[in-house]
Amino acid sequence: MRFYDIIKKKRDGFELTKEEIEFFAFGAADGSIPDYQLTAMLMAIFFKGMSKRETADLTLAMANSGDTVDLSPLGGITADKHSTGGVGDKTTLIVAPIVASCGVKVAKMSGRGLGHTGGTVDKLESIPGYKTTLTREEFFGVVEKSSMSVIGQSGNLAPADKKLYALRDVTATVDSIPLIASSIMSKKIAAGAACIVLDIKVGSGAFMKTPELAQSLAREMIDIGTAVGRKTAAVISNMDVPLGINVGNSLEVIEAVETLRGNGPEDLKELCICLAANMLVLSGKGSEEECTALARAALESGRAFETLKACVEAQGGDASYLDNIDKFPKAKYSFDIVAESDGYITKMDSERIGIAACMLGAGRKTANDTIDFAAGLKILKKTGGKVCKGDILATLYANDEALFASAAEEYTAAVTLGNSRPKVLPIIISTVR
Ligand code: URA
Repeated sequence: MRFYDIIKKKRDGFELTKEEIEFFAFGAADGSIPDYQLTAMLMAIFFKGMSKRETADLTLAMANSGDTVDLSPLGGITADKHSTGGVGDKTTLIVAPIVASCGVKVAKMSGRGLGHTGGTVDKLESIPGYKTTLTREEFFGVVEKSSMSVIGQSGNLAPADKKLYALRDVTATVDSIPLIASSIMSKKIAAGAACIVLDIKVGSGAFMKTPELAQSLAREMIDIGTAVGRKTAAVISNMDVPLGINVGNSLEVIEAVETLRGNGPEDLKELCICLAANMLVLSGKGSEEECTALARAALESGRAFETLKACVEAQGGDASYLDNIDKFPKAKYSFDIVAESDGYITKMDSERIGIAACMLGAGRKTANDTIDFAAGLKILKKTGGKVCKGDILATLYANDEALFASAAEEYTAAVTLGNSRPKVLPIIISTVR
């Protein structure tokens, strides 16, 4: 088989066979196909698309290109969630303990932030001592103790996706439905959970800019999950506005803790209960109404908070930081962004707000950059909110005052003020099963 011929076939709009797709995925994983040919293929897929069968074959080939995790020794039902990436998205820190405290095991591998979106692993590492790299035995041991564990993705999980994703990131081929669907589902399938809930973000801070595109991505991923025997559902949620109030690593852990103790913002709480309820429905814990009630009770009783603390302790973290959030180191400097006129916030560009947080030190520009856990921002006024001249729209936090000027410029450019109250989309746009 010559890879040149496979590229040409896709370029000319023909459907690839399972064998050709496996040749592509395994060649990406083992380095036998050079980057220039891989990127030519990615661009051909970007323009010509893939049939459902091709997308499913690519997903399975990428899932089987490295290690796969067998969670069956844990016994019982296992559930996982995945977000397509957003700003201020700390849902895993709330959803995983809710679901775990309702009797479903959550053995989860999460990613790091890159670009304007944050990553759960970075957030958890802001808790002193928390280990995000565990051996298989340690990982299973934590789940046995606390019903949940969240670790970083193992180096050899879906290596074909790792290679292709890095190339897509720099060749303008990320926002393709078959490529996103196969990338996410290959990792979820390799990670082993029986039930998978996808949080598909739509709006200014998301890859999917319209609800219709998000719906197509949801269908594609559910079909792939179902075809390989995983119960899969999707929630389409609003990322036109950042989620919650805090953006930045320890700031987001603090907001998750506040939510688990009953003081979180409504949008975050509503989305977390919806995601957790969907994981419980797939796990056979009851109807949607019953599972929503179960999730709400786990959150409101404090059981989910205790579960998160047990997991943090079992993973070497200092859980006293969760009991006393004042222990998290604070950034040395803060800077308020103030409204220059009266009006309503009519639009927020979530992506630019994520970029502003990164500029303050909360994210990386390249994979090797270090993160300032205390850096980030608090959003005090969101889309639909009335503002008066002089009101604080957001507070920025950094350990280097020189970072404020450009981050404040970025934040200000991300927020549009107008004279009339805009229509605000709900946080949950739809659920797809
Ligand atoms: N997240 C992924 O893991 N892959 C994509 O392609 C997009 C978002």
